Amino acid sequence: MNDIDLKTRYLGLELPHPVMASASPLTGSVEGICRLADAGAAAVVMASIHEEQIVAAELAELALREADGGAHPEANTGYFPAALSDRSVLDERLETLHRAAQRCGIPVIASLNGVSPAGWTGFARQLEQAGAAAIELNVFRIPANLSEDGAQVDRECVDTLRAVKACVRIPVSVKLAPYHSSTGHFALQLMEAGADGLALFNRFYEPGIDLATLEPQLDFDLSTPADTRLGLAWISLLHGHMGGASLAATSGVWSGEDVVRYLLAGADAVMSTSALLRYGPGHVGALVQGLRDWMARHGDDSVAALRGRLAASHRDGDPGAFLRANYRNILALAKRHVWPVASNPGSSPAP
Ligand SMILES: Cc1cc2nc3c(=O)[nH]c(=O)nc-3n(C[C@H](O)[C@H](O)[C@H](O)COP(=O)(O)O)c2cc1C
Repeated sequence: MNDIDLKTRYLGLELPHPVMASASPLTGSVEGICRLADAGAAAVVMASIHEEQIVAAELAELALREADGGAHPEANTGYFPAALSDRSVLDERLETLHRAAQRCGIPVIASLNGVSPAGWTGFARQLEQAGAAAIELNVFRIPANLSEDGAQVDRECVDTLRAVKACVRIPVSVKLAPYHSSTGHFALQLMEAGADGLALFNRFYEPGIDLATLEPQLDFDLSTPADTRLGLAWISLLHGHMGGASLAATSGVWSGEDVVRYLLAGADAVMSTSALLRYGPGHVGALVQGLRDWMARHGDDSVAALRGRLAASHRDGDPGAFLRANYRNILALAKRHVWPVASNPGSSPAP
């Protein structure tokens, strides 16, 4: 079948197909973004701008200038640290965004990881001015205050979204953590507060403990296709309930079949990072071709017709009961499974 229509819309952007690159070191430079564009990515999310990192860099520069014996008196005249340097870290990131948006020929979505209310809104305005097609809010906040309840955590995020929406005109999405106590309710609150889309789910990296140094062990693993499961469940539940807001899947996309699964669950766009880090930007082409091949084999002629076909929200009856039944069925299967016993590793680490 030649006429397969892969077109989709995400955050109001018309995309030729649903495969995007999510935020990572691959999307941190103009060259990296253009490589992904040349490989056929429909859009990219640029590596996050982290408010704390920007402010720390600016403060370090301020300290340097003060140590310079006041040779640069202008350094002390402004309040906002970004005004201090001729070419601050922030300037560089904004310039990367600007040049990538101009040169690479695909929508470049800026990702913002803020901390303070002024940081979220101030940086968002600058990202819009630099040419971002949209902004993805990368909300990473561990509720380490043990007296804070889930509703407070959700409310703060919704308030942040509202504040950002009030100061930019481009679409704004939220990249969700998988840890909210009622993900569906939270998603609907974000939608009602004006989110143009949600990306499910971010993958956070918690440190281990390095037994040699007794310090945090700062390494990380790439995802595997098994990491699609939680996103599939929630996208499948949210599909059809998001008003005009779109849904992107991010986690565990290694093959065209993973893309298909997320589309069947109800995603409008599907993002990948780990597989692109592992196989290089050219792997975007394999993801798109894998999607096209699967559709051809199954006689599907458009992504629009595929999207949400297997969404739990479309099923008759209680979708919660459907998901619980799946859980019980998997456990029943695991019970019947014959587990081959591996040789005991003793005290050495498990492979
Ligand atoms: C090395 C690395 C850097 C990342 N940097 C960011 C980032 O700056 N902002 C962000 O929102 N997500 C970041 N992510 C998360 C990815 O965008 C993506 O959501 C996550 O890896 C799950 O997708 P995957 O299974 O395709 O890897 C990063 C992931 C990796 C592996």
